[in-house]
Amino acid sequence: MRLTEEELKRFDEDGYLFFPGKFTPEEAACLKAEAEAVYALDREEVWRESNGVARTAFAAHKYNEAFRRLGAHPRMIDPVTQVLDGPVYMHQYKVNAKAAFDGAVWQWHQDYGTWKRDDDMPEPRAMNIAVFLDDVTAANGPLLFIPGSHKQGVVDAGHDLETTSYPLWTLDRDKVSELAERGGCVAPTGPAGSMLMFSSLLVHASPPNISPFGRTIVYLSLCHVDNHIRAFNRAEWIAHRDFTPIEALSDDCLDELVAKRQQAAE
Ligand code: SIN
Ligand code: MN
Repeated sequence: MRLTEEELKRFDEDGYLFFPGKFTPEEAACLKAEAEAVYALDREEVWRESNGVARTAFAAHKYNEAFRRLGAHPRMIDPVTQVLDGPVYMHQYKVNAKAAFDGAVWQWHQDYGTWKRDDDMPEPRAMNIAVFLDDVTAANGPLLFIPGSHKQGVVDAGHDLETTSYPLWTLDRDKVSELAERGGCVAPTGPAGSMLMFSSLLVHASPPNISPFGRTIVYLSLCHVDNHIRAFNRAEWIAHRDFTPIEALSDDCLDELVAKRQQAAE
């Protein structure tokens, strides 16, 4: 899949692109079932909210076959390779839960702000690409973006070690207000299987999920291989140290797992 000139222009202006229904409902359902299996594991990579429900499963591509395949899926890898103009490695892999009733806030931040400060990634030559595993609506804690905020470079931030279970470099309210006055604030919503690509400099957040509907999203954070991190301050399963270029699999790489799941249900 090649991004069109029009898509590249929109990405440059807004800092993100949204592809509703990029993965089929069957592929999304298969990955959702695998996410539930991952959250049930007692592993250090699975971080929980204060009441114990899963918040994030890191590095699931290392211990789950479906997520391994998704981590090399051409629908995820090709557009990022195109925009970053060269081979990429996996810097971080997250399956974020945002559980019904209990999923907590992600404060306003830029991902590259954390990767630069904590991991010494030289340049923002890195990208997030995500797939919704549930329908994402206005009700269940969607991602919030400030369009155009990726043009600001790395914005001042403070290290938030308190408001959530996961440490993050977060922006103060004055800065968020100033950026949103210019760019507005949007919440891309769509059915399970939708794909979202966004710049590592884009300012984003997500509100708590008070709804009775879960909101699971998988994120691949891909980095150009020449731009690999220089500092190893965080656990290997949070900020990976394997800089091998990812070879994309074939577009039907999830079919076998989808079929297995359907057979088991019959
Ligand atoms: C993130 O910003 O890394 C995660 C936000 C979310 O899943 O809501
Ligand atoms: Mn983020």
